[in-house]
Amino acid sequence: MTIVGPDAGGLRRAVELLRDESVVAFPTETVYGLGAHAFSAKAVAEVYRLKNRPSWNPLIVHVANVAAARALAHEWPDAANELAAQFWPGPLTLVVERAKHLPQVGAPTPTIAIRVPAHEVALKLLEASNLPLAAPSANRSEGISPTTAEHVLRSLPDVPLVLDGGPASWGIESTVLDLTTPTPTLLRPGALALRPLREVTGAIALPEAVVTDGTARPSPGMSRRHYAPKATVLLVDDVKTVDRSGLAAPVAVLSYETAGDYDAAEVLSADPREYAADLYAALHRLDDAGVGTIIVQRPPDTEDWLAVRDRLSRAAR
Ligand code: TXA
Ligand code: MG
Repeated sequence: MTIVGPDAGGLRRAVELLRDESVVAFPTETVYGLGAHAFSAKAVAEVYRLKNRPSWNPLIVHVANVAAARALAHEWPDAANELAAQFWPGPLTLVVERAKHLPQVGAPTPTIAIRVPAHEVALKLLEASNLPLAAPSANRSEGISPTTAEHVLRSLPDVPLVLDGGPASWGIESTVLDLTTPTPTLLRPGALALRPLREVTGAIALPEAVVTDGTARPSPGMSRRHYAPKATVLLVDDVKTVDRSGLAAPVAVLSYETAGDYDAAEVLSADPREYAADLYAALHRLDDAGVGTIIVQRPPDTEDWLAVRDRLSRAAR
């Protein structure tokens, strides 16, 4: 595996690999993706193999613009038009019916998940390759998503090439919205908050699980355990009053307020967007430090924290 800069030479090598039905990791504004020609069964199979991803979990397809997205859809609803105009390029994935002539992207669904990423390198790669790129997060299945090229290297050492575009600015995956239901349905809370989405679509259906424990289960990929570091993660209401007997040492804390007296600490911002941007990098650092347990201060039960609470609750199982 090699990490290369996103200059002309690096892009050329990446395009060659993609045209050759191999895979390339590339930066997006959310997390790094493991890219493959979306309609090459061979390339897509390589993504599943490298990630050890369950075969029932479909992949998001990245395209350079709205016209390219429409070409993959059987129907392009008005809501898709309006959302795309407002939020693309950006961290919003739309699930629509897949055009009948196109094969499935990994998993056997009649739908397709599409987004236009807001990262210069990703857009350059899409344009230079002229391919729709399936790209899940570039990490082993269930592990922590990568927000730097180094994270990709450590999680997936067998990927032939990583384009280095610096740290991902959002640091958390895109919001996935299903437009095949009468009311748009949130499949995965993510970088883009619900409030601005509702201003465009009106009501958004939140699956029961989102409402009750901050986790969205109906997206096929949303298995309970996900985004998990090697250490055991414990979500608590107050990091200062935890009984630490019986916990695997060293015991670390991940919080947005006070650190308390722990062996290691990551104190993130109390602003949900800034917290999200640092979360995966903090979990990677704690794993690298070899901690046994991570005590996590549970964030507030408000919509602004929905995506962060979702990821933390999965990391904790
Ligand atoms: O921010 C992101 O979305 C990143 C970057 C690389 O773009 N990608 C990403 O991909 O997070 P992945 O594979 O880790 O997550 C894709 C999510 C999964 O929950 C999957 O089940 C869902 O999108 N998904 C993909 N295709 C779908 C479909 N046709 N219907 C419903 N859900 C779908
Ligand atoms: Mg992922």
